[in-house]
Amino acid sequence: MAPAAVAPTSTVDLSTYTSGYLKTSHGIQHDYATTKIGGATDILAKQAQQGVVFGDWRDEFFSKGYTVVKGAIPREKADGYRRKALDWFSQFPFGFVVNDKSTWTQEHLPVMMNGGMIMNYSATHEKWVWEARCEPGVLEPFAKLWGTDELLVSFDAVNITLPGRKDLKWSPWPHVDQSPTRKGLSCAQGIINLSQSGPTDGGLQLLTGSSALFDQFFKEHPPKPKAKDAPGQFDWYGFTLDDIKWFEDHGCRLIKVEAEPGDLIIWDSRTVHYASLPKSETIRTIIYATYTPAKLATEEDIKLKADIFRHYEGTTHWPHCNIFGQGRAMRGDTICPGERDEPLEKPELTDQVLKLAGVKRY
Ligand SMILES: [Fe+2]
Repeated sequence: MAPAAVAPTSTVDLSTYTSGYLKTSHGIQHDYATTKIGGATDILAKQAQQGVVFGDWRDEFFSKGYTVVKGAIPREKADGYRRKALDWFSQFPFGFVVNDKSTWTQEHLPVMMNGGMIMNYSATHEKWVWEARCEPGVLEPFAKLWGTDELLVSFDAVNITLPGRKDLKWSPWPHVDQSPTRKGLSCAQGIINLSQSGPTDGGLQLLTGSSALFDQFFKEHPPKPKAKDAPGQFDWYGFTLDDIKWFEDHGCRLIKVEAEPGDLIIWDSRTVHYASLPKSETIRTIIYATYTPAKLATEEDIKLKADIFRHYEGTTHWPHCNIFGQGRAMRGDTICPGERDEPLEKPELTDQVLKLAGVKRY
């Protein structure tokens, strides 16, 4: 008698899936079928195809779809940014006190996506965030990757994830930050890591090898329309458990990217990923930062980006296209009373900041 078929198992447990995506105050949702693809480029794809040996972290980035650039920010400076992050996080008017765990609940915290991503409240334009994004050791790897230092930076989010929260409904949200209709290696996204990210700490998890399977997956599985509560930006796609099993059947496996404070994580936007919650006592503290060449942006997108900068709004992981304002934080059906028109501490408007923001031209 033939053995009974064994149900495939997966390393990603989506059995308790509850969406932690945030509503946007403007309610716009871009659709794959009708949204124009802007900012397409083959600058990175060409390097991957040429198989050049760089002798540095780029070899791992192109072969595995992710890498960790060690010590992009000196340790002491990274610790300083982390202190500023936690100070800033303690200044929302909801009663959160970092040393009092009874205040580690949603009512005392700003509105965050999936328990940690702060995309509103002008977070991405705080002085400390801009200073970290202007660190030479953070900019240099992206300049190397793209072959230019005339870059734009993303205004995406910061992530402060408190460990051990009892009130948090959380489950994996495997996704890619690239539209299924945008083909090839088009964007390398980044995390400026400010807290220890060892095996039990919160951090980035990804399916190794999934970036190389991106086109094949969508050829075999035409993109489904977005769920109503999915993020509204164009360059985003969420996966089901069956999808994950397909990737695992094709040799991918889920790994946690380990990094120390001051390291820069860079990954191919076609890599399936999501975060792990901290199991340790360490508060996960990171800044998302992606850089792409300014010349890739259309006139329309650069104007939109500059306008978003002027009113201190957040966007997406993409710096030169997919410019999608995150709007105001919604607490339930109304704008969060803690929303702000500007950061607590405004960035210094240096030439570098204005150029990275798309306000001043190179
Ligand atoms: Fe993502």
